Amino acid sequence: MRFDKPAGDSVLADTKVIGKPVHRVDGPLKTTGTAPYAYERHDVAANQLVGWPVGAAIAKGKLKSVGTKKAEAAPGVVAVLTTLQFDRLPLSQWNTANLFGGDQIEHYHQAVALVVAETLETARAGAAMLEFDYAPDTEASFDLSKTAPTGDEQPLSDVGNFEKAYADAPVTIDVNYTTPAESHAMMEPHASIAAWDGDEVTLWTSNQMIQWDKMALATTLKTTPDKVRIDSPYIGGGFGSKLFLRADAVLAALGAKRTGKPVKVQLPRPMIFNNTTHRGLTEQHLKIGATQDGKIVAISHENKSNALPGGSSEKAPAPTQHFYATDNLYCINRTAEMHLPESNAMRAPGEASGLMALEAAMDELAEKLDMDPVELRIMNDAKVDPSNPNKTFSRRHFVECLRTGADRFGWSKRNRKPGDTREGAWLIGHGVAGAYRGAPAQASGAEVAIRPDGGVVVRTDMTDIGTGSYTILAQTAAEMLGVPVERVRVELGDSRYPVSSGSGGQFGAVSSTAGVYAACVALRKKIADELGKKHDDLTFADGAVHAGGSTTELKKLTRGGRELSAIDTMHFGDFRSEKYVVSTFGAHFIEARVHSLTGEVRLNRMLAVCDAGRILNPITARSQVIGAMTMGAGAALLEEMAVDHDRGFFVNHDLAGYEVPVHLDIPHQEVVFLDVLDPVSTPLKAKGVGELGICGVAAAIANAVNNATGIRVRDYPITLDKIV
Ligand code: MOS
Repeated sequence: MRFDKPAGDSVLADTKVIGKPVHRVDGPLKTTGTAPYAYERHDVAANQLVGWPVGAAIAKGKLKSVGTKKAEAAPGVVAVLTTLQFDRLPLSQWNTANLFGGDQIEHYHQAVALVVAETLETARAGAAMLEFDYAPDTEASFDLSKTAPTGDEQPLSDVGNFEKAYADAPVTIDVNYTTPAESHAMMEPHASIAAWDGDEVTLWTSNQMIQWDKMALATTLKTTPDKVRIDSPYIGGGFGSKLFLRADAVLAALGAKRTGKPVKVQLPRPMIFNNTTHRGLTEQHLKIGATQDGKIVAISHENKSNALPGGSSEKAPAPTQHFYATDNLYCINRTAEMHLPESNAMRAPGEASGLMALEAAMDELAEKLDMDPVELRIMNDAKVDPSNPNKTFSRRHFVECLRTGADRFGWSKRNRKPGDTREGAWLIGHGVAGAYRGAPAQASGAEVAIRPDGGVVVRTDMTDIGTGSYTILAQTAAEMLGVPVERVRVELGDSRYPVSSGSGGQFGAVSSTAGVYAACVALRKKIADELGKKHDDLTFADGAVHAGGSTTELKKLTRGGRELSAIDTMHFGDFRSEKYVVSTFGAHFIEARVHSLTGEVRLNRMLAVCDAGRILNPITARSQVIGAMTMGAGAALLEEMAVDHDRGFFVNHDLAGYEVPVHLDIPHQEVVFLDVLDPVSTPLKAKGVGELGICGVAAAIANAVNNATGIRVRDYPITLDKIV
């Protein structure tokens, strides 16, 4: 099926299940600890061995030798694999950093060995007996402030004449913001079990993108995709960290091949921070020019961010291209090639860190203009895309987000001047920020079948990374086929199922539901053919199909105990991006308190208002947003991977040193969805919300801290040492 023009008014106009607050269908499995996660899948293959991975102790250079004799002789050890025993494994478009093989060390904790043993303890003990001899490279770059960009970047946007408009502007601000490297810090570590059957390998793993993982593993193992099966039905968080093939999967596959037995490998938590990806550091420079009454006339947003040579960096100016109206816009992202671990996508890559600067700078501009920051944003709302005035927004209700939020929050009663509102030793402050995040969609396929018992089954290689995919896909099939949600079974994460969008870029929910919609339409047409009726004349309700006075129970459509099934893929036409900017918008309101003596920041209230198309399920969507707000609070106040500038690694590489918010850090959270339909986005008129929720949160907190204290911290996170 193709989505080639905006969905008509009659498409899913009156839904019974989609958009309703259905509780998570996988909730009981999660809360009873019976949802099988990769490392716990003891039942999938007998005689599993355990592999313990070892990461490089230098950031750049050469591994000269590995002494393996002691480890090989240790009790319980079955095999020792070292990177020197293999050629450098091929890269692909889905895995761009060296995962194993060869003697070149390209970042700290790059995998250099795997000890396979009968138990975890013997594998770990064996790993401690390995003797590594490195030749570190003294020419390496670990400090972003001292590293020049490659210099070949083109501007993301260059519209009008920024320099002139800025020079002529009566009111200007010129500010620098920095954000640190951040870790996804998802709950479930990267883990895989691998087993070979002849030349075919199966990976029970934890990965957001099944098809990418399959293609990448085939390339890496120098085989063909048909020899690789990936299975990843439950995932304990990803946030971008599991978009790509990682070392756990490669090492498990190689270990299983070497030993002839299934091998399981989990990246130990202290290895994850440097072995896998992180959100890159940024140095952002913002210049905004405005008229005396607050109309923006010029914006420039320049960023420098780290990447491995040839890798991708954090595109912080991305959202600035589309957010505020201006005739003169200059946005550029510069990549500094460095030898830190691999920088790559983390929840709302680009937008999340870009808005930490832009939305704080907007607050600085409001202050300079002596304007209400809500009104400044409303006055400068873009009607057409600032980076391409030929494009409009499919739907844009940013102003409504701000107005609704201001009302709900009581913005008119906010603290006016730093120090004006106190509770004992605490200074109270209020902050606002806008949220912007693109809303892409990707081709997505599914199989939908009527079972002999009249129930429905959905199969797709889509993943549920804790987001609620199981639930919204069940709702989609229930809606389309007229059965209760409880009668729909959803099977996910297996590469034998039709290829879906996967989970990433906040495209997962909208794309995969569109894919299930397409498969349901195909199934309905098949049923119409079977019944000799026209598709448009059929109504699906109460577990039956109704047409011209006759009713057929769904189970009567199956024969000989077999399912009646249809497969289809939703493909999205170019009209979406050619004519429109399809995006989500939001506003965050924060009340914070700052201790006047210690500088400690605490959050009192958080409110988010989201414009994200049809909300497919207000419960799972709210969970996405409150989780994202929590992550935004972490970015504002806690999260920072400290770089060792001499040795090139992230020092605080565990959850004791890398602090994320806990319950006590998070106050009352309120989420409001505008629930406007977006017919340009998908047939379901929905847009993603999981990444929108983090966008702007940290800046709203920074603005609240400034409102409380008069102190503007431009170097995140806002720790107390920067306030006192
Ligand atoms: Mo997202 S950072 O594409 O998982």
